[in-house]
Amino acid sequence: MFQSKIAGIGHYVPSKVVSNEALTRVMDTTDEWIQERTGIQNRRYGTKHEETTATMGAAAARIACERAGTSPEEIDFIIFATLSPDYYFPGCGVLMQRELGITHKEVGALDIRNQCSGFIYALSIADQFVKTGMYKNVLVVGSEMHSMGLDFSTRGRNVTVIFGDGAGAAVVQPTNEPNKGILTTKLHADGTYAEKLAFINPGCHGGYHAAKSGDTTNFGYPDPSVFGEMFITPRMIQEGMYYPNMDGQFVFKLAVQKFPEVIHEALLSAGLQVSDIDMLIPHQANLRISQFVQKQLKLRDDQVWNNIQRFGNTTAASIPIALSEAWEAGKIQAGNLVCLAAFGSGFTWASALIRW
Ligand code: UT7
Repeated sequence: MFQSKIAGIGHYVPSKVVSNEALTRVMDTTDEWIQERTGIQNRRYGTKHEETTATMGAAAARIACERAGTSPEEIDFIIFATLSPDYYFPGCGVLMQRELGITHKEVGALDIRNQCSGFIYALSIADQFVKTGMYKNVLVVGSEMHSMGLDFSTRGRNVTVIFGDGAGAAVVQPTNEPNKGILTTKLHADGTYAEKLAFINPGCHGGYHAAKSGDTTNFGYPDPSVFGEMFITPRMIQEGMYYPNMDGQFVFKLAVQKFPEVIHEALLSAGLQVSDIDMLIPHQANLRISQFVQKQLKLRDDQVWNNIQRFGNTTAASIPIALSEAWEAGKIQAGNLVCLAAFGSGFTWASALIRW
Protein backbone atom coordinates (compact mmCIF):
# COMPACT_ATOMS: atom_id res chain seq x y z
CA MET A 1 0.00 0.00 0.00
CA PHE A 2 1.13 3.53 -0.81
CA GLN A 3 0.35 6.69 1.11
CA SER A 4 -1.31 9.47 -0.86
CA LYS A 5 -0.54 13.17 -0.66
CA ILE A 6 -1.80 16.42 -2.11
CA ALA A 7 1.01 17.25 -4.53
CA GLY A 8 -0.52 20.50 -5.80
CA ILE A 9 -3.46 22.74 -4.97
CA GLY A 10 -5.01 25.63 -6.89
CA HIS A 11 -8.12 27.78 -7.07
CA TYR A 12 -9.99 30.08 -9.39
CA VAL A 13 -12.67 32.64 -8.58
CA PRO A 14 -14.51 34.77 -11.17
CA SER A 15 -13.51 38.42 -11.35
CA LYS A 16 -17.00 39.87 -10.81
CA VAL A 17 -17.31 40.98 -7.17
CA VAL A 18 -20.89 41.25 -5.87
CA SER A 19 -21.33 43.14 -2.62
CA ASN A 20 -24.15 42.84 -0.10
CA GLU A 21 -25.17 46.33 -1.14
CA ALA A 22 -25.64 45.11 -4.74
CA LEU A 23 -28.07 42.45 -3.48
CA THR A 24 -30.12 45.05 -1.61
CA ARG A 25 -31.01 46.52 -5.01
CA VAL A 26 -32.84 43.35 -6.10
CA MET A 27 -34.26 41.95 -2.85
CA ASP A 28 -35.36 43.05 0.58
CA THR A 29 -32.16 42.55 2.56
CA THR A 30 -29.46 44.66 4.19
CA ASP A 31 -25.68 44.60 4.40
CA GLU A 32 -26.07 44.63 8.18
CA TRP A 33 -28.32 41.51 8.24
CA ILE A 34 -26.02 39.54 5.95
CA GLN A 35 -22.83 40.45 7.80
CA GLU A 36 -24.31 39.91 11.23
CA ARG A 37 -25.82 36.48 10.42
CA THR A 38 -23.18 35.11 8.05
CA GLY A 39 -20.04 37.27 8.08
CA ILE A 40 -20.26 37.63 4.29
CA GLN A 41 -19.31 40.97 2.71
CA ASN A 42 -18.79 40.01 -0.94
CA ARG A 43 -19.07 37.01 -3.19
CA ARG A 44 -17.98 36.34 -6.80
CA TYR A 45 -20.34 35.62 -9.71
CA GLY A 46 -19.25 33.99 -12.94
CA THR A 47 -19.90 35.58 -16.31
CA LYS A 48 -22.52 33.97 -18.53
CA HIS A 49 -21.25 32.62 -21.87
CA GLU A 50 -17.67 32.94 -20.64
CA GLU A 51 -17.36 30.55 -17.72
CA THR A 52 -19.16 27.56 -16.22
CA THR A 53 -18.69 25.15 -13.35
CA ALA A 54 -16.57 22.94 -15.66
CA THR A 55 -14.40 25.77 -17.03
CA MET A 56 -13.77 27.21 -13.56
CA GLY A 57 -12.84 23.71 -12.42
CA ALA A 58 -10.42 23.50 -15.35
CA ALA A 59 -8.85 26.85 -14.43
CA ALA A 60 -8.24 25.68 -10.86
CA ALA A 61 -7.02 22.30 -12.12
CA ARG A 62 -4.38 23.86 -14.39
CA ILE A 63 -2.88 25.65 -11.40
CA ALA A 64 -3.00 22.52 -9.23
CA CYS A 65 -1.30 20.48 -11.97
CA GLU A 66 1.43 23.07 -12.43
CA ARG A 67 2.12 23.14 -8.69
CA ALA A 68 2.20 19.34 -8.62
CA GLY A 69 4.76 19.37 -11.43
CA THR A 70 2.48 17.43 -13.71
CA SER A 71 0.49 18.22 -16.84
CA PRO A 72 -3.27 17.66 -17.33
CA GLU A 73 -2.36 15.04 -19.95
CA GLU A 74 -0.75 12.95 -17.17
CA ILE A 75 -3.94 12.85 -15.07
CA ASP A 76 -5.25 9.30 -14.93
CA PHE A 77 -8.46 9.89 -12.96
CA ILE A 78 -10.79 12.86 -12.44
CA ILE A 79 -13.16 13.31 -9.53
CA PHE A 80 -15.43 16.32 -9.86
CA ALA A 81 -17.62 17.50 -6.98
CA THR A 82 -20.42 19.99 -7.61
CA LEU A 83 -24.10 20.64 -6.96
CA SER A 84 -24.34 23.13 -9.82
CA PRO A 85 -23.28 21.11 -12.87
CA ASP A 86 -23.30 22.58 -16.38
CA TYR A 87 -25.69 19.84 -17.52
CA TYR A 88 -28.02 17.49 -15.67
CA PHE A 89 -25.99 14.90 -17.56
CA PRO A 90 -23.27 14.20 -18.59
CA GLY A 91 -21.37 15.33 -15.53
CA CYS A 92 -18.78 18.06 -15.24
CA GLY A 93 -15.92 15.54 -15.02
CA VAL A 94 -15.97 14.82 -18.75
CA LEU A 95 -16.67 18.46 -19.67
CA MET A 96 -13.62 19.52 -17.70
CA GLN A 97 -11.58 16.73 -19.27
CA ARG A 98 -12.46 18.18 -22.69
CA GLU A 99 -11.69 21.69 -21.47
CA LEU A 100 -8.27 20.60 -20.22
CA GLY A 101 -7.51 18.82 -23.49
CA ILE A 102 -6.98 15.44 -21.82
CA THR A 103 -7.31 13.26 -24.87
CA HIS A 104 -5.91 9.90 -23.77
CA LYS A 105 -8.63 7.35 -23.22
CA GLU A 106 -7.14 5.68 -20.14
CA VAL A 107 -8.47 8.50 -17.99
CA GLY A 108 -11.65 7.94 -15.96
CA ALA A 109 -14.03 10.66 -14.75
CA LEU A 110 -16.38 10.49 -11.79
CA ASP A 111 -18.87 13.09 -10.61
CA ILE A 112 -19.65 13.46 -6.92
CA ARG A 113 -22.95 14.88 -5.67
CA ASN A 114 -22.31 15.46 -2.01
CA GLN A 115 -22.71 19.21 -1.87
CA CYS A 116 -20.73 20.87 0.95
CA SER A 117 -18.82 17.72 1.85
CA GLY A 118 -18.24 16.84 -1.83
CA PHE A 119 -14.58 17.76 -1.85
CA ILE A 120 -13.73 15.61 1.18
CA TYR A 121 -15.70 12.69 -0.24
CA ALA A 122 -13.80 13.16 -3.52
CA LEU A 123 -10.47 13.36 -1.71
CA SER A 124 -11.27 10.18 0.19
CA ILE A 125 -12.00 8.32 -3.06
CA ALA A 126 -8.77 9.63 -4.59
CA ASP A 127 -6.92 8.47 -1.48
CA GLN A 128 -8.28 4.91 -1.83
CA PHE A 129 -7.37 4.70 -5.53
CA VAL A 130 -3.85 6.00 -4.96
CA LYS A 131 -3.25 3.81 -1.88
CA THR A 132 -4.11 0.67 -3.82
CA GLY A 133 -1.79 1.68 -6.65
CA MET A 134 -4.62 1.92 -9.17
CA TYR A 135 -3.90 5.56 -10.12
CA LYS A 136 -0.89 7.87 -9.81
CA ASN A 137 -2.29 11.29 -10.66
CA VAL A 138 -5.82 11.90 -9.49
CA LEU A 139 -7.34 15.31 -10.12
CA VAL A 140 -9.86 16.25 -7.44
CA VAL A 141 -12.02 19.28 -8.16
CA GLY A 142 -14.77 21.18 -6.35
CA SER A 143 -16.51 23.86 -8.41
CA GLU A 144 -19.78 25.77 -8.22
CA MET A 145 -21.67 28.24 -10.39
CA HIS A 146 -24.41 29.01 -7.88
CA SER A 147 -25.28 32.40 -9.32
CA MET A 148 -27.10 30.90 -12.30
CA GLY A 149 -29.51 28.92 -10.11
CA LEU A 150 -30.54 31.27 -7.31
CA ASP A 151 -33.82 33.06 -6.61
CA PHE A 152 -32.97 36.77 -6.66
CA SER A 153 -36.40 37.79 -5.42
CA THR A 154 -37.02 38.46 -1.72
CA ARG A 155 -38.52 34.98 -1.43
CA GLY A 156 -35.08 33.43 -1.96
CA ARG A 157 -33.08 35.82 0.21
CA ASN A 158 -32.23 33.39 3.03
CA VAL A 159 -30.40 31.16 0.53
CA THR A 160 -29.26 33.57 -2.17
CA VAL A 161 -27.24 35.98 -0.04
CA ILE A 162 -25.05 33.15 1.20
CA PHE A 163 -23.78 31.57 -2.00
CA GLY A 164 -20.97 32.47 -4.39
CA ASP A 165 -19.12 31.00 -7.37
CA GLY A 166 -15.62 29.56 -7.62
CA ALA A 167 -13.48 26.45 -7.93
CA GLY A 168 -10.62 24.66 -6.24
CA ALA A 169 -8.56 21.65 -7.28
CA ALA A 170 -5.95 19.26 -5.93
CA VAL A 171 -3.67 16.68 -7.53
CA VAL A 172 -3.35 13.56 -5.39
CA GLN A 173 -0.27 11.40 -5.90
CA PRO A 174 1.46 8.51 -4.13
CA THR A 175 4.29 9.15 -1.69
CA ASN A 176 6.83 6.88 -0.02
CA GLU A 177 7.60 9.36 2.72
CA PRO A 178 6.46 7.91 6.05
CA ASN A 179 3.79 9.76 8.06
CA LYS A 180 3.04 12.11 5.18
CA GLY A 181 -0.08 12.88 3.20
CA ILE A 182 -3.69 11.92 3.83
CA LEU A 183 -3.73 10.25 7.25
CA THR A 184 -7.43 9.57 7.46
CA THR A 185 -10.83 10.56 6.07
CA LYS A 186 -14.19 10.16 7.79
CA LEU A 187 -17.42 10.19 5.80
CA HIS A 188 -21.00 10.26 7.10
CA ALA A 189 -24.55 10.56 5.80
CA ASP A 190 -28.10 10.74 7.15
CA GLY A 191 -30.90 11.17 4.63
CA THR A 192 -33.60 11.64 7.26
CA TYR A 193 -33.72 15.37 6.64
CA ALA A 194 -32.82 15.40 2.93
CA GLU A 195 -35.37 18.12 2.09
CA LYS A 196 -34.14 20.55 4.78
CA LEU A 197 -31.52 21.79 2.33
CA ALA A 198 -32.39 20.75 -1.18
CA PHE A 199 -32.92 21.66 -4.82
CA ILE A 200 -35.98 19.54 -5.54
CA ASN A 201 -37.39 20.66 -8.90
CA PRO A 202 -36.97 19.89 -11.69
CA GLY A 203 -36.34 16.24 -10.95
CA CYS A 204 -37.40 12.66 -11.55
CA HIS A 205 -39.07 12.17 -8.16
CA GLY A 206 -42.60 12.47 -9.59
CA GLY A 207 -43.86 13.88 -6.30
CA TYR A 208 -43.01 10.62 -4.45
CA HIS A 209 -41.19 12.02 -1.42
CA ALA A 210 -43.66 14.84 -0.94
CA ALA A 211 -46.63 12.48 -1.12
CA LYS A 212 -44.98 10.07 1.32
CA SER A 213 -44.37 12.86 3.80
CA GLY A 214 -47.99 14.02 3.50
CA ASP A 215 -47.16 17.15 1.52
CA THR A 216 -50.24 17.42 -0.68
CA THR A 217 -48.87 20.26 -2.82
CA ASN A 218 -47.39 17.47 -4.97
CA PHE A 219 -44.94 19.83 -6.65
CA GLY A 220 -47.27 20.63 -9.52
CA TYR A 221 -47.79 17.08 -10.75
CA PRO A 222 -51.35 16.92 -12.14
CA ASP A 223 -51.76 13.20 -11.68
CA PRO A 224 -48.99 10.78 -10.71
CA SER A 225 -50.46 8.15 -13.03
CA VAL A 226 -50.05 10.36 -16.11
CA PHE A 227 -46.91 9.81 -18.14
CA GLY A 228 -44.91 12.70 -19.54
CA GLU A 229 -44.13 16.14 -18.18
CA MET A 230 -42.82 14.53 -15.03
CA PHE A 231 -39.37 16.13 -14.91
CA ILE A 232 -40.66 19.69 -15.11
CA THR A 233 -44.27 20.87 -15.02
CA PRO A 234 -45.89 24.18 -16.03
CA ARG A 235 -46.74 24.83 -12.38
CA MET A 236 -43.09 24.59 -11.38
CA ILE A 237 -42.31 27.34 -13.88
CA GLN A 238 -45.32 29.51 -13.12
CA GLU A 239 -44.70 29.40 -9.38
CA GLY A 240 -40.90 29.52 -9.52
CA MET A 241 -40.48 26.15 -7.78
CA TYR A 242 -37.09 25.54 -9.36
CA TYR A 243 -34.81 27.03 -6.71
CA PRO A 244 -32.90 25.66 -3.72
CA ASN A 245 -34.58 25.85 -0.35
CA MET A 246 -33.14 25.65 3.14
CA ASP A 247 -34.37 25.55 6.71
CA GLY A 248 -31.40 27.60 7.85
CA GLN A 249 -31.83 27.31 11.60
CA PHE A 250 -32.27 23.54 11.41
CA VAL A 251 -29.10 23.19 9.32
CA PHE A 252 -27.18 25.56 11.59
CA LYS A 253 -27.98 23.59 14.75
CA LEU A 254 -26.83 20.30 13.26
CA ALA A 255 -23.76 21.84 11.65
CA VAL A 256 -22.34 23.17 14.93
CA GLN A 257 -22.79 19.70 16.42
CA LYS A 258 -21.40 17.64 13.54
CA PHE A 259 -18.30 19.74 12.71
CA PRO A 260 -16.57 19.19 16.09
CA GLU A 261 -17.80 15.58 16.24
CA VAL A 262 -16.30 14.55 12.91
CA ILE A 263 -13.03 16.41 13.63
CA HIS A 264 -12.63 14.58 16.95
CA GLU A 265 -13.43 11.30 15.23
CA ALA A 266 -10.62 11.80 12.69
CA LEU A 267 -8.14 12.85 15.39
CA LEU A 268 -8.98 9.84 17.51
CA SER A 269 -8.49 7.38 14.68
CA ALA A 270 -5.13 8.96 13.76
CA GLY A 271 -3.97 8.97 17.39
CA LEU A 272 -3.77 12.77 17.41
CA GLN A 273 -5.25 15.60 19.45
CA VAL A 274 -6.77 19.00 18.74
CA SER A 275 -3.51 20.57 19.93
CA ASP A 276 -1.72 18.83 17.02
CA ILE A 277 -3.77 20.75 14.40
CA ASP A 278 -1.77 23.48 12.66
CA MET A 279 -4.51 24.59 10.28
CA LEU A 280 -8.25 23.90 10.28
CA ILE A 281 -10.00 24.48 6.98
CA PRO A 282 -13.72 24.34 7.69
CA HIS A 283 -16.24 24.31 4.86
CA GLN A 284 -17.23 27.97 4.54
CA ALA A 285 -20.92 27.58 5.36
CA ASN A 286 -21.32 30.57 7.62
CA LEU A 287 -18.65 32.50 9.52
CA ARG A 288 -20.72 32.08 12.69
CA ILE A 289 -20.50 28.28 12.34
CA SER A 290 -16.71 28.41 11.83
CA GLN A 291 -16.33 30.69 14.84
CA PHE A 292 -18.43 28.37 16.97
CA VAL A 293 -16.29 25.38 15.93
CA GLN A 294 -13.07 27.31 16.56
CA LYS A 295 -14.26 28.24 20.04
CA GLN A 296 -15.31 24.69 20.81
CA LEU A 297 -11.90 23.36 19.78
CA LYS A 298 -10.09 26.27 21.47
CA LEU A 299 -8.10 27.07 18.33
CA ARG A 300 -6.41 30.43 17.78
CA ASP A 301 -7.42 32.72 14.90
CA ASP A 302 -4.23 31.85 13.01
CA GLN A 303 -5.13 28.14 13.13
CA VAL A 304 -8.38 28.53 11.18
CA TRP A 305 -8.67 29.75 7.59
CA ASN A 306 -11.85 31.68 6.76
CA ASN A 307 -12.57 33.45 3.49
CA ILE A 308 -16.37 33.42 3.43
CA GLN A 309 -16.22 37.19 4.02
CA ARG A 310 -14.85 37.59 0.47
CA PHE A 311 -16.28 34.63 -1.43
CA GLY A 312 -19.49 33.59 0.31
CA ASN A 313 -20.33 29.91 0.57
CA THR A 314 -19.02 28.09 -2.50
CA THR A 315 -20.21 24.63 -1.39
CA ALA A 316 -17.93 21.90 -2.87
CA ALA A 317 -15.37 24.54 -3.86
CA SER A 318 -15.04 26.20 -0.48
CA ILE A 319 -12.52 23.81 1.10
CA PRO A 320 -10.09 23.61 -1.85
CA ILE A 321 -10.28 27.39 -2.38
CA ALA A 322 -9.49 27.98 1.30
CA LEU A 323 -6.77 25.33 1.29
CA SER A 324 -5.17 26.87 -1.79
CA GLU A 325 -5.33 30.37 -0.31
CA ALA A 326 -3.85 29.25 3.01
CA TRP A 327 -1.05 27.44 1.17
CA GLU A 328 -0.35 30.49 -1.03
CA ALA A 329 -0.19 32.66 2.09
CA GLY A 330 2.51 30.38 3.50
CA LYS A 331 0.27 29.25 6.36
CA ILE A 332 0.63 25.59 5.44
CA GLN A 333 4.20 24.30 5.60
CA ALA A 334 5.73 20.86 5.11
CA GLY A 335 5.04 18.73 8.18
CA ASN A 336 1.98 20.76 9.27
CA LEU A 337 -1.17 18.92 10.27
CA VAL A 338 -4.12 20.20 8.23
CA CYS A 339 -7.68 19.31 9.13
CA LEU A 340 -10.58 19.64 6.66
CA ALA A 341 -14.18 19.41 7.83
CA ALA A 342 -17.59 19.86 6.22
CA PHE A 343 -21.29 19.53 6.84
CA GLY A 344 -24.15 20.15 4.44
CA SER A 345 -27.10 19.02 2.35
CA GLY A 346 -27.97 15.35 2.50
CA PHE A 347 -27.14 15.59 5.30
CA THR A 348 -23.59 14.50 4.67
CA TRP A 349 -20.57 15.45 6.72
CA ALA A 350 -16.90 14.54 6.59
CA SER A 351 -13.37 15.29 7.74
CA ALA A 352 -9.82 14.65 6.59
CA LEU A 353 -6.44 14.89 8.29
CA ILE A 354 -3.45 15.64 6.10
CA ARG A 355 0.22 15.73 7.12
CA TRP A 356 1.50 18.28 4.58
O1 UT7 B 1 -23.28 25.16 3.28
C1 UT7 B 1 -24.47 24.47 3.41
C2 UT7 B 1 -24.91 24.39 4.80
N1 UT7 B 1 -25.64 25.59 5.11
C3 UT7 B 1 -25.51 26.13 6.29
O2 UT7 B 1 -24.75 25.66 7.11
C4 UT7 B 1 -26.40 27.31 6.62
C5 UT7 B 1 -26.80 27.28 8.06
N2 UT7 B 1 -27.76 28.31 8.39
C6 UT7 B 1 -27.46 29.62 8.41
O3 UT7 B 1 -26.35 29.99 8.09
C7 UT7 B 1 -28.50 30.60 8.88
O4 UT7 B 1 -29.62 29.91 9.34
C8 UT7 B 1 -28.93 31.62 7.79
C9 UT7 B 1 -27.82 32.59 7.55
C10 UT7 B 1 -29.31 30.90 6.51
C11 UT7 B 1 -30.16 32.40 8.23
O5 UT7 B 1 -29.92 33.02 9.48
P1 UT7 B 1 -30.98 32.84 10.66
O6 UT7 B 1 -30.51 33.66 11.75
O7 UT7 B 1 -31.14 31.38 10.92
O8 UT7 B 1 -32.30 33.46 10.04
P2 UT7 B 1 -33.73 32.82 9.83
O9 UT7 B 1 -33.76 31.98 8.62
O10 UT7 B 1 -34.21 32.23 11.11
O11 UT7 B 1 -34.60 34.12 9.57
C12 UT7 B 1 -34.71 35.16 10.56
C13 UT7 B 1 -35.42 36.33 9.92
C14 UT7 B 1 -36.71 35.95 9.20
O12 UT7 B 1 -37.64 37.00 9.36
P3 UT7 B 1 -38.79 36.95 10.48
O13 UT7 B 1 -39.60 35.73 10.15
O14 UT7 B 1 -38.07 36.83 11.78
O15 UT7 B 1 -39.51 38.22 10.29
C15 UT7 B 1 -36.30 35.90 7.75
O16 UT7 B 1 -37.36 36.16 6.86
O17 UT7 B 1 -34.58 36.94 8.94
C16 UT7 B 1 -35.29 37.01 7.69
N3 UT7 B 1 -34.32 36.86 6.62
C17 UT7 B 1 -33.67 37.90 6.08
N4 UT7 B 1 -33.73 39.22 6.33
C18 UT7 B 1 -32.92 40.01 5.60
C19 UT7 B 1 -33.90 35.72 6.02
N5 UT7 B 1 -32.98 36.01 5.09
C20 UT7 B 1 -32.82 37.35 5.10
C21 UT7 B 1 -32.01 38.24 4.39
N6 UT7 B 1 -32.10 39.55 4.67
N7 UT7 B 1 -31.15 37.83 3.43
